[in-house]
Amino acid sequence: MAKFITFEGVDGAGKSTHLNWFADTLRARGIDLLVTREPGGTPLGEKLREILLHEPMHAETEALLMFAARREHLAQVIKPALERGTWVISDRFTDASFAYQGGGRGVVVEKLEQLERWVQEDLQPDLTLLFDIPVEVARERLTKNVALTNVALDKFEQEKSDFFNKVRNAYLARAQKNPARFAIIHAEKSPGEVKASLEKIVTSV
Ligand SMILES: Nc1ncnc2c1ncn2[C@@H]1O[C@H](COP(=O)(O)OP(=O)(O)OP(=O)(O)O)[C@@H](O)[C@H]1O
Ligand SMILES: [Mg+2]
Repeated sequence: MAKFITFEGVDGAGKSTHLNWFADTLRARGIDLLVTREPGGTPLGEKLREILLHEPMHAETEALLMFAARREHLAQVIKPALERGTWVISDRFTDASFAYQGGGRGVVVEKLEQLERWVQEDLQPDLTLLFDIPVEVARERLTKNVALTNVALDKFEQEKSDFFNKVRNAYLARAQKNPARFAIIHAEKSPGEVKASLEKIVTSV
């Protein structure tokens, strides 16, 4: 059975850095897989991403648009892939809505749970890698990245430490509620050490 794997964690935790290596390792085992991301993953989802990452809006509007993009992502990309036997790795998924819109912005968890049931029915990732990191370390990495690439911070990345601490705690609460699905990566460690912990996980999926 094709698997659905998600990468989660606050901005700057190192998800994107390690995702491609993880995907390539699975491909080398002959697994057919696609890599996608949220918000985004479809032409409509990418348009919504632009709005979500740059336009100020009410917290519940943000939650609804995230789930609207996700509905499209599931219909156009994720479900068809899993049905034809292609594995899917997504850079963020629903746990991010619980962390950012729930923890960060204070949207009531029951409302997010309703949206989750509506949009996903019984589909959940088989495995979620949570890149957990002290907020200050993630922030330092983002700042360094801006200096290197000259790419400005988006709406979420510009939030204060207090926001990111709430996001981090909401992620950890989701992990505690679903221990069988989550693997927690200690993402403050060096790239080599992070890779070593991913190596252990990739051999067991
Ligand atoms: N283990 C690590 N140690 C030091 N720096 C790292 C480590 N992992 C990633 N970085 C650097 O930190 C920055 C952020 O990493 P990355 O873009 O992978 O984070 P992300 O979790 O994908 O963030 P976002 O949610 O904003 O996309 C990058 O410049 C990356 O090179
Ligand atoms: Mg990233």
